[in-house]
Amino acid sequence: MTAKIKVLMDCDPGHDDAFALIVAAKFAEVLGVTTVAGNAPLSHTTKNARIILDLCGSNAPLHSGASRPLVAEPIHAAYIHGESGMDGANLPEPSRPADGTNAVYFIIDTVRANPGLWLVPTGPLTNIALALRAAPDLVDKISGISIMGGGRFGNRTATAEFNIWCDPEAAAAVFDSGAKIIMSGLHLTHQIMANPKRIEMVRAAHAIVGPMLAGLLEFFSKMYKSLHDDFEGAPLHDVCAVLALTHPQLFTSKETHVAVELDGSHTRGMTVIDDRHVKSRTKANTQVLETIDADAAFAVIVDAVSSCVKS
Ligand code: BDR
Ligand code: CA
Repeated sequence: MTAKIKVLMDCDPGHDDAFALIVAAKFAEVLGVTTVAGNAPLSHTTKNARIILDLCGSNAPLHSGASRPLVAEPIHAAYIHGESGMDGANLPEPSRPADGTNAVYFIIDTVRANPGLWLVPTGPLTNIALALRAAPDLVDKISGISIMGGGRFGNRTATAEFNIWCDPEAAAAVFDSGAKIIMSGLHLTHQIMANPKRIEMVRAAHAIVGPMLAGLLEFFSKMYKSLHDDFEGAPLHDVCAVLALTHPQLFTSKETHVAVELDGSHTRGMTVIDDRHVKSRTKANTQVLETIDADAAFAVIVDAVSSCVKS
């Protein structure tokens, strides 16, 4: 059997972050989890991360990090995730608090002690940008950064996806860092929706945890459907950033250059993907994921849910 890929998850749970953690717990070696403010304030995202780690029986260390973006004002996403950041299910209280409050130094120490690690951010990129700024040597020590963020269209604005829009300065620093980047943008993540049939598969996958997670997906999907013309459920955005590493055969992709717009009055937070065919285009810095085999990916998610340990 090949060794599991080593990851550090940086997240803002978040319904879809929860599923990213569950899939990582089953199919990767999770060396740590850090939290950031994003979908909800930091205290909420940290509590939610602990609850999910408990559900999947993970002993990975959990450290909270940035409570606000580098420059932008903090704005959360209760309109999608509810006030708690993970509304919709009767979840157990966390078994214990976070193991520390300095995610940035935890990221630095963990990378230096584990060269070849992948960083997997599924929220605003504040913690990752701060770690790379404090310790530029990390770029050469990690295998890369698998990001859920950006895309060929936006959700928070017409051009900007929420994670990048929340902290564009951090995102720009990460895309410009020289690290290998894999990007799961909205044009990819909208291909994997939690439709009613898939929610029932999650419910049936585990006697205790299945109904809780199905409740999360029902809430998440209700919110998405109420805000969109034509969605059959909520996209499981953040799972893609994990599957890109653990199940790369599920994706197609292209290598190209991605820049983050910081100044435009209509485009701040946009990921500018260079699709030109000209030979003079900027050198590629990102593997942009284009398509996913959604049914196969959902089977992987259900398998991970069935491995949760809560009884
Ligand atoms: C991203 O924003 C959040 O709502 C989700 O957790 C995901 O990380 C999608 O735009
Ligand atoms: Ca997220």
